[in-house]
Amino acid sequence: MTISKKIRVAILISGRGSNMASLIAAATAADYPAEIVLVASNRPDAGGLAAAAAAGIPTRALDHKAYPSRAAFDGALHAELVAANIDLVCLAGFMRIFSAGFVEAWAGRMINIHPSLLPLFKGVHTHEQALAAGVRLHGCTVHYVVPELDAGPIVAQAAVPVLPGDDADALAARILVEEHRLYPAALALIASGHARLDGDRVVFSDTVRRADGALLSLRE
Ligand code: GAR
Repeated sequence: MTISKKIRVAILISGRGSNMASLIAAATAADYPAEIVLVASNRPDAGGLAAAAAAGIPTRALDHKAYPSRAAFDGALHAELVAANIDLVCLAGFMRIFSAGFVEAWAGRMINIHPSLLPLFKGVHTHEQALAAGVRLHGCTVHYVVPELDAGPIVAQAAVPVLPGDDADALAARILVEEHRLYPAALALIASGHARLDGDRVVFSDTVRRADGALLSLRE
């Protein structure tokens, strides 16, 4: 039997942390290929910090307002991640833009979940953007983080219908259910080595294509 080492993951949050909770829950399974070893937030009052602590995960609150510059905050965060021997960073509702240096330092080792089917509807208010555009399908995307906002290689996507009478809150709630399934699945693909970066694309092994094809946007 081959016992492979679990990759060490930090989750960065700014708010309630429901995606963080879905990752923590998934990682409690003995055969999940990643372990969540740190949760950090730029907001000391982020609700997710208490939830992480209750789950026994070490937490750090680095108040970005306490740092003189973006680079100083990013440097402090980077030091925390390095000290915890982090292999992969998962952004989960982390609502702060990084300096180019931080993104460079974690290139190929940092993923994000975004509440739209990228490359549509980057930035904030994605559900309002989708309603204004009149799309019939909307959804969420897990992607690698690159310097350009919401633009990195796509790991996985899930779509939901936009229904008559939907407002932004109804759409957000329908998509959040999918986010909570998609992010743990995408992290598992990366952590197990079944999904990997190849230039500006994510490629998948055949095994994963057979097992999880329905979930994924396969683009080898
Ligand atoms: C999620 O919907 C996530 O996709 C979104 O913020 C929400 C966080 O919720 N992220 C972004 O908009 C990133 N640009 P959560 O704190 O309950 O996970």
